[in-house]
Amino acid sequence: MTDSTEPARDERAEPPVEPPAGAAGSAGSAGSATEAGSGSSPGPGRRRSGRPGRPLVVLEGVNKHFGDLHVLRDIDLVIHEGEVVVVIGPSGSGKSTLCRTINRLETIESGSISVDGKPLPEEGKALAKLRAEVGMVFQSFNLFAHKTILDNVTLGPVKVRGAGKEQARTRAQELLERVGVAHQAGKYPAQLSGGQQQRVAIARSLAMDPKVMLFDEPTSALDPEMITEVLDVMISLADAGMTMVVVTHEMGFARRAADRVVFMSDGEIVEQAAPEEFFTNPRSARAKDFLGKILTH
Ligand SMILES: Nc1ncnc2c1ncn2[C@@H]1O[C@H](COP(=O)(O)OP(=O)(O)O)[C@@H](O)[C@H]1O
Ligand SMILES: [Mg+2]
Repeated sequence: MTDSTEPARDERAEPPVEPPAGAAGSAGSAGSATEAGSGSSPGPGRRRSGRPGRPLVVLEGVNKHFGDLHVLRDIDLVIHEGEVVVVIGPSGSGKSTLCRTINRLETIESGSISVDGKPLPEEGKALAKLRAEVGMVFQSFNLFAHKTILDNVTLGPVKVRGAGKEQARTRAQELLERVGVAHQAGKYPAQLSGGQQQRVAIARSLAMDPKVMLFDEPTSALDPEMITEVLDVMISLADAGMTMVVVTHEMGFARRAADRVVFMSDGEIVEQAAPEEFFTNPRSARAKDFLGKILTH
């Protein structure tokens, strides 16, 4: 599967800093994930098995203000291992803030958040480690403009995870293949389409071996014809058992990949349900109103 004719790697040949033995074949968690599309059974704790995995991200009584604005109101939310949760709701309802509190890009005023049983660290090395464990993909791809695609994906593992350079490059190349942009490895972000850049951003997050991936409107900045290629990568991640929180208004994605839809409005979780149930039978007036607006577009 490795595309060894791909020119970027040859052009950038550097003496290996690590013995290549051991690096090859140690694809880590990505190895099993790659095969998931070809009919293998979903990972442990995977949705639709009827058995949720263990609680991985737990928010209890979370409150957050921006000045007078109460943006998160008593948020209780448990994301189980292997679960895919789509967060939906009107603009300004607090969806991005919710994501940002989970990897502590925003602090909270009360309540608690834990990831894999540990409360969010305040600062320092522990915080850097948390950020690695909680991958985040933004609407604007946020790649390093002056670094190649391959460097964008190897930087984190080398700097934060302490991976060897050669090992990190091998893994990065595998991940770029997985998201379908391996042949672009030597280019710079501006030379790629938006859809390709977003897939690189996903590969970059995956390179850190996150326990959970947060996606904040990952397709909102994309031209329509590029949305599907990004959603397809996300669906394959979901099918491979990745724990995911996805802010999106893409109903097709929610129906296909989500275990649960969480509807937010005015900083509150107003209701949550399985996608089919939520879309066909929303209970609250706010959800009905919101769905009426987006579905009639
Ligand atoms: N850094 C900030 N400072 C002040 N207000 C903010 C900040 N970030 C978000 N807000 C406000 O908080 C509310 C929730 O924002 P956000 O979480 O981005 O909502 P959503 O992602 O659902 O559109 C909005 O009213 C927004 O204007
Ligand atoms: Mg937002």
